[in-house]
Amino acid sequence: IALFAGRSNPALARRIAEAYGQELGQVTIKNFSDGEIYVRYEESIRGADLFIIQSTHPGAENWIELLLMIDAARRASAARITAVIPYFGYARQERKDQPRVSIAAKLMANMLTTAGIDRLLTMDLHAPQIQGFFDVPVDHLYGSAVFAEYVQRLNIQNLVVVAPDVGALKMARSYAKRLQADLALIDKRRPRQNEAEVVNIIGEVKGKNVLLIDDIVDTAGTLTNAAKALREAGAREIYAACTHALLSGPAYERIESSVLTKLVVTDTIPLKRPSEKIEVVSVAEIFADAI
Ligand code: R5P
Repeated sequence: IALFAGRSNPALARRIAEAYGQELGQVTIKNFSDGEIYVRYEESIRGADLFIIQSTHPGAENWIELLLMIDAARRASAARITAVIPYFGYARQERKDQPRVSIAAKLMANMLTTAGIDRLLTMDLHAPQIQGFFDVPVDHLYGSAVFAEYVQRLNIQNLVVVAPDVGALKMARSYAKRLQADLALIDKRRPRQNEAEVVNIIGEVKGKNVLLIDDIVDTAGTLTNAAKALREAGAREIYAACTHALLSGPAYERIESSVLTKLVVTDTIPLKRPSEKIEVVSVAEIFADAI
Protein backbone atom coordinates (compact mmCIF):
# COMPACT_ATOMS: atom_id res chain seq x y z
CA ILE A 1 0.00 0.00 0.00
CA ALA A 2 1.22 3.51 -0.81
CA LEU A 3 -0.34 6.69 0.60
CA PHE A 4 0.01 10.06 -1.12
CA ALA A 5 -1.62 13.41 -0.51
CA GLY A 6 -2.49 16.50 -2.50
CA ARG A 7 -2.11 19.96 -1.01
CA SER A 8 -5.68 20.62 0.10
CA ASN A 9 -5.46 19.29 3.65
CA PRO A 10 -1.93 18.22 4.62
CA ALA A 11 -2.75 18.01 8.34
CA LEU A 12 -5.55 15.48 7.84
CA ALA A 13 -3.41 13.49 5.37
CA ARG A 14 -0.64 13.28 7.99
CA ARG A 15 -3.14 12.19 10.64
CA ILE A 16 -4.57 9.48 8.36
CA ALA A 17 -1.07 8.22 7.54
CA GLU A 18 -0.16 8.22 11.23
CA ALA A 19 -3.33 6.38 12.20
CA TYR A 20 -2.66 3.87 9.41
CA GLY A 21 0.94 3.48 10.57
CA GLN A 22 2.75 4.45 7.38
CA GLU A 23 4.50 7.54 6.05
CA LEU A 24 3.11 9.53 3.15
CA GLY A 25 4.97 8.97 -0.13
CA GLN A 26 7.01 11.70 -1.81
CA VAL A 27 5.26 13.61 -4.56
CA THR A 28 6.15 17.00 -6.02
CA ILE A 29 3.18 19.26 -6.69
CA LYS A 30 3.72 22.83 -7.77
CA ASN A 31 2.22 25.60 -9.83
CA PHE A 32 3.73 26.99 -12.97
CA SER A 33 3.88 30.75 -13.28
CA ASP A 34 0.53 30.79 -15.14
CA GLY A 35 -1.14 28.76 -12.37
CA GLU A 36 -1.20 25.35 -14.07
CA ILE A 37 -0.42 22.45 -11.73
CA TYR A 38 2.50 20.04 -12.11
CA VAL A 39 2.54 16.60 -10.42
CA ARG A 40 5.36 14.07 -10.26
CA TYR A 41 5.70 11.03 -7.97
CA GLU A 42 9.23 10.96 -6.58
CA GLU A 43 9.33 7.20 -6.03
CA SER A 44 8.31 4.16 -8.03
CA ILE A 45 4.62 3.32 -7.70
CA ARG A 46 4.62 0.52 -10.28
CA GLY A 47 2.23 -2.19 -9.11
CA ALA A 48 1.27 -0.21 -5.98
CA ASP A 49 -2.11 -0.26 -4.24
CA LEU A 50 -2.25 3.53 -4.20
CA PHE A 51 -4.38 5.84 -2.04
CA ILE A 52 -4.51 9.53 -2.95
CA ILE A 53 -5.85 11.76 -0.17
CA GLN A 54 -7.35 15.05 -1.32
CA SER A 55 -10.33 17.08 -0.11
CA THR A 56 -11.95 19.12 -2.86
CA HIS A 57 -12.46 22.50 -1.26
CA PRO A 58 -11.94 25.07 -2.62
CA GLY A 59 -13.38 23.31 -5.63
CA ALA A 60 -11.55 24.20 -8.79
CA GLU A 61 -7.86 23.91 -7.92
CA ASN A 62 -8.15 20.88 -5.70
CA TRP A 63 -10.27 18.87 -8.13
CA ILE A 64 -7.76 19.47 -10.95
CA GLU A 65 -4.83 18.63 -8.67
CA LEU A 66 -6.51 15.34 -7.69
CA LEU A 67 -7.24 14.44 -11.32
CA LEU A 68 -3.61 15.09 -12.28
CA MET A 69 -2.43 12.91 -9.39
CA ILE A 70 -4.69 10.07 -10.55
CA ASP A 71 -3.60 10.46 -14.16
CA ALA A 72 0.09 10.50 -13.24
CA ALA A 73 -0.39 7.40 -11.04
CA ARG A 74 -2.15 5.47 -13.79
CA ARG A 75 0.55 6.37 -16.31
CA ALA A 76 3.19 5.24 -13.76
CA SER A 77 1.53 1.77 -13.67
CA ALA A 78 -0.01 1.82 -10.19
CA ALA A 79 -1.98 -1.43 -9.85
CA ARG A 80 -5.01 0.03 -8.09
CA ILE A 81 -5.89 3.67 -7.43
CA THR A 82 -8.24 4.76 -4.66
CA ALA A 83 -9.25 8.40 -4.36
CA VAL A 84 -9.70 9.33 -0.71
CA ILE A 85 -11.89 12.44 -0.83
CA PRO A 86 -12.82 13.42 2.74
CA TYR A 87 -14.96 16.31 1.43
CA PHE A 88 -16.51 15.70 -1.99
CA GLY A 89 -17.08 19.16 -3.45
CA TYR A 90 -19.85 19.97 -5.96
CA ALA A 91 -22.07 17.39 -4.25
CA ARG A 92 -24.78 20.03 -3.79
CA GLN A 93 -25.21 20.19 -7.56
CA GLU A 94 -26.31 16.61 -7.97
CA ARG A 95 -29.51 16.99 -9.99
CA LYS A 96 -30.99 19.09 -12.75
CA ASP A 97 -33.53 21.01 -10.69
CA GLN A 98 -33.71 23.99 -13.06
CA PRO A 99 -33.43 24.30 -16.82
CA ARG A 100 -29.96 24.84 -18.32
CA VAL A 101 -27.88 23.90 -15.25
CA SER A 102 -25.09 21.37 -14.86
CA ILE A 103 -25.20 18.14 -12.83
CA ALA A 104 -21.77 18.99 -11.52
CA ALA A 105 -21.43 16.01 -9.15
CA LYS A 106 -21.96 13.63 -12.08
CA LEU A 107 -19.31 15.46 -14.10
CA MET A 108 -16.85 15.14 -11.18
CA ALA A 109 -17.64 11.41 -11.01
CA ASN A 110 -17.07 11.05 -14.76
CA MET A 111 -13.74 12.87 -14.54
CA LEU A 112 -12.56 10.67 -11.66
CA THR A 113 -13.47 7.58 -13.63
CA THR A 114 -11.83 8.85 -16.82
CA ALA A 115 -8.68 9.76 -14.90
CA GLY A 116 -8.56 6.16 -13.71
CA ILE A 117 -9.79 5.50 -10.17
CA ASP A 118 -10.66 1.95 -9.12
CA ARG A 119 -12.34 2.90 -5.86
CA LEU A 120 -13.53 5.94 -3.92
CA LEU A 121 -13.48 6.60 -0.20
CA THR A 122 -15.48 9.60 0.95
CA MET A 123 -17.50 10.88 3.90
CA ASP A 124 -21.01 12.24 4.48
CA LEU A 125 -21.81 12.94 0.84
CA HIS A 126 -24.34 15.74 0.61
CA ALA A 127 -26.53 13.35 -1.37
CA PRO A 128 -25.76 9.64 -0.83
CA GLN A 129 -27.24 8.80 -4.23
CA ILE A 130 -24.07 10.30 -5.79
CA GLN A 131 -22.59 6.84 -5.15
CA GLY A 132 -24.69 5.71 -8.09
CA PHE A 133 -22.77 8.08 -10.39
CA PHE A 134 -19.84 5.65 -10.11
CA ASP A 135 -19.40 2.16 -11.52
CA VAL A 136 -16.42 1.53 -9.23
CA PRO A 137 -16.86 0.67 -5.53
CA VAL A 138 -17.61 3.65 -3.27
CA ASP A 139 -17.05 3.42 0.47
CA HIS A 140 -19.31 6.04 2.02
CA LEU A 141 -18.10 6.75 5.55
CA TYR A 142 -19.99 8.58 8.32
CA GLY A 143 -18.69 11.24 10.67
CA SER A 144 -21.43 10.37 13.16
CA ALA A 145 -19.18 8.10 15.22
CA VAL A 146 -16.88 10.96 16.25
CA PHE A 147 -19.75 13.42 16.83
CA ALA A 148 -21.82 11.01 18.88
CA GLU A 149 -18.78 10.33 21.07
CA TYR A 150 -18.23 14.09 21.51
CA VAL A 151 -21.86 14.74 22.45
CA GLN A 152 -21.97 11.78 24.82
CA ARG A 153 -18.94 13.25 26.62
CA LEU A 154 -20.82 16.54 27.09
CA ASN A 155 -23.56 14.55 28.79
CA ILE A 156 -26.34 16.96 27.76
CA GLN A 157 -29.64 16.30 29.47
CA ASN A 158 -33.08 16.84 28.02
CA LEU A 159 -31.69 16.80 24.46
CA VAL A 160 -33.52 17.28 21.18
CA VAL A 161 -31.72 16.70 17.89
CA VAL A 162 -32.80 19.21 15.25
CA ALA A 163 -32.49 18.94 11.48
CA PRO A 164 -32.03 22.50 10.11
CA ASP A 165 -33.72 21.47 6.87
CA VAL A 166 -35.47 18.49 5.42
CA GLY A 167 -32.26 17.32 3.69
CA ALA A 168 -30.63 16.77 7.08
CA LEU A 169 -33.57 14.87 8.54
CA LYS A 170 -32.32 11.35 7.91
CA MET A 171 -28.96 12.16 9.44
CA ALA A 172 -30.60 13.88 12.45
CA ARG A 173 -32.93 10.91 12.98
CA SER A 174 -30.00 8.50 13.22
CA TYR A 175 -28.28 10.80 15.76
CA ALA A 176 -31.47 11.07 17.81
CA LYS A 177 -31.72 7.30 17.91
CA ARG A 178 -28.08 6.89 18.86
CA LEU A 179 -28.26 9.58 21.57
CA GLN A 180 -31.73 8.51 22.71
CA ALA A 181 -32.94 12.06 22.18
CA ASP A 182 -36.09 13.60 20.70
CA LEU A 183 -36.19 14.86 17.13
CA ALA A 184 -37.38 18.15 15.60
CA LEU A 185 -37.23 19.67 12.12
CA ILE A 186 -36.90 23.16 10.71
CA ASP A 187 -38.82 24.10 7.62
CA LYS A 188 -36.16 26.13 5.76
CA ARG A 189 -36.64 28.09 2.54
CA ARG A 190 -33.95 29.52 0.29
CA PRO A 191 -35.30 32.75 -1.25
CA ARG A 192 -31.97 33.09 -3.09
CA GLN A 193 -28.75 31.02 -3.35
CA ASN A 194 -26.70 31.20 -0.13
CA GLU A 195 -29.65 32.67 1.81
CA ALA A 196 -31.59 30.62 4.35
CA GLU A 197 -34.91 31.51 6.01
CA VAL A 198 -36.61 29.66 8.84
CA VAL A 199 -40.32 29.27 8.16
CA ASN A 200 -41.40 26.98 10.96
CA ILE A 201 -40.13 24.65 13.69
CA ILE A 202 -41.78 21.24 13.69
CA GLY A 203 -41.44 19.54 17.08
CA GLU A 204 -41.01 20.49 20.74
CA VAL A 205 -37.90 22.52 21.66
CA LYS A 206 -39.08 24.73 24.54
CA GLY A 207 -36.93 24.29 27.66
CA LYS A 208 -34.77 21.70 25.89
CA ASN A 209 -31.09 21.58 24.96
CA VAL A 210 -30.56 21.33 21.24
CA LEU A 211 -28.12 19.63 18.91
CA LEU A 212 -28.39 20.86 15.31
CA ILE A 213 -27.05 18.39 12.75
CA ASP A 214 -25.96 19.12 9.18
CA ASP A 215 -23.52 17.73 6.64
CA ILE A 216 -22.16 21.13 5.56
CA VAL A 217 -21.75 24.54 7.14
CA ASP A 218 -20.96 26.98 4.37
CA THR A 219 -21.99 30.63 4.95
CA ALA A 220 -23.52 29.49 8.28
CA GLY A 221 -26.86 31.12 7.40
CA THR A 222 -28.73 27.84 7.81
CA LEU A 223 -27.26 27.14 11.24
CA THR A 224 -27.33 30.60 12.76
CA ASN A 225 -30.86 31.36 11.56
CA ALA A 226 -31.98 27.99 12.90
CA ALA A 227 -30.27 28.69 16.22
CA LYS A 228 -31.94 32.10 16.47
CA ALA A 229 -35.38 30.65 15.76
CA LEU A 230 -34.81 27.84 18.25
CA ARG A 231 -33.81 30.30 20.99
CA GLU A 232 -36.91 32.41 20.24
CA ALA A 233 -38.94 29.23 20.58
CA GLY A 234 -37.51 28.69 24.08
CA ALA A 235 -34.55 26.34 23.51
CA ARG A 236 -31.78 26.46 26.13
CA GLU A 237 -28.19 25.51 25.13
CA ILE A 238 -27.82 25.18 21.36
CA TYR A 239 -25.00 23.03 19.97
CA ALA A 240 -24.36 22.21 16.33
CA ALA A 241 -22.42 19.41 14.64
CA CYS A 242 -21.51 19.65 10.94
CA THR A 243 -19.13 17.35 9.10
CA HIS A 244 -17.73 19.69 6.46
CA ALA A 245 -16.66 23.17 7.60
CA LEU A 246 -16.55 25.22 4.39
CA LEU A 247 -17.05 28.39 6.46
CA SER A 248 -17.06 30.79 3.54
CA GLY A 249 -17.99 34.49 3.34
CA PRO A 250 -19.60 35.77 6.55
CA ALA A 251 -19.55 32.36 8.30
CA TYR A 252 -17.10 33.17 11.11
CA GLU A 253 -18.78 36.45 12.07
CA ARG A 254 -22.20 34.82 11.96
CA ILE A 255 -21.13 31.95 14.20
CA GLU A 256 -19.27 34.15 16.65
CA SER A 257 -22.18 36.54 17.07
CA SER A 258 -24.79 33.76 17.16
CA VAL A 259 -26.60 32.17 20.08
CA LEU A 260 -24.79 28.89 19.41
CA THR A 261 -22.93 27.57 22.44
CA LYS A 262 -20.56 25.51 20.31
CA LEU A 263 -20.18 24.31 16.73
CA VAL A 264 -18.34 21.00 16.33
CA VAL A 265 -16.90 20.19 12.92
CA THR A 266 -14.52 17.56 11.57
CA ASP A 267 -11.14 18.04 9.93
CA THR A 268 -12.23 17.05 6.39
CA ILE A 269 -11.50 20.70 5.55
CA PRO A 270 -8.88 22.76 7.43
CA LEU A 271 -10.24 25.70 9.43
CA LYS A 272 -9.32 29.08 7.97
CA ARG A 273 -8.72 30.39 11.48
CA PRO A 274 -9.39 29.23 15.03
CA SER A 275 -12.54 30.41 16.78
CA GLU A 276 -13.63 30.06 20.41
CA LYS A 277 -17.01 28.77 19.31
CA ILE A 278 -15.69 26.13 16.91
CA GLU A 279 -14.24 22.80 17.96
CA VAL A 280 -12.68 20.25 15.60
CA VAL A 281 -12.80 16.48 15.98
CA SER A 282 -10.70 14.31 13.70
CA VAL A 283 -12.01 11.67 11.31
CA ALA A 284 -8.50 10.41 10.48
CA GLU A 285 -9.02 7.09 12.26
CA ILE A 286 -12.20 6.40 10.33
CA PHE A 287 -10.33 6.85 7.03
CA ALA A 288 -7.32 4.88 8.22
CA ASP A 289 -9.61 1.96 9.18
CA ALA A 290 -11.29 2.06 5.77
CA ILE A 291 -7.90 2.03 3.99
C1 R5P B 1 -27.80 22.15 2.28
O1 R5P B 1 -28.76 21.50 2.02
C2 R5P B 1 -26.70 21.69 3.22
O2 R5P B 1 -27.02 20.53 3.90
C3 R5P B 1 -26.38 22.79 4.21
O3 R5P B 1 -27.50 23.03 5.02
C4 R5P B 1 -26.00 24.05 3.50
O4 R5P B 1 -25.09 23.81 2.47
C5 R5P B 1 -25.44 25.06 4.47
O5 R5P B 1 -25.21 26.26 3.79
P1 R5P B 1 -25.10 27.63 4.56
O6 R5P B 1 -24.18 27.39 5.73
O7 R5P B 1 -24.52 28.57 3.54
O8 R5P B 1 -26.49 28.03 4.97
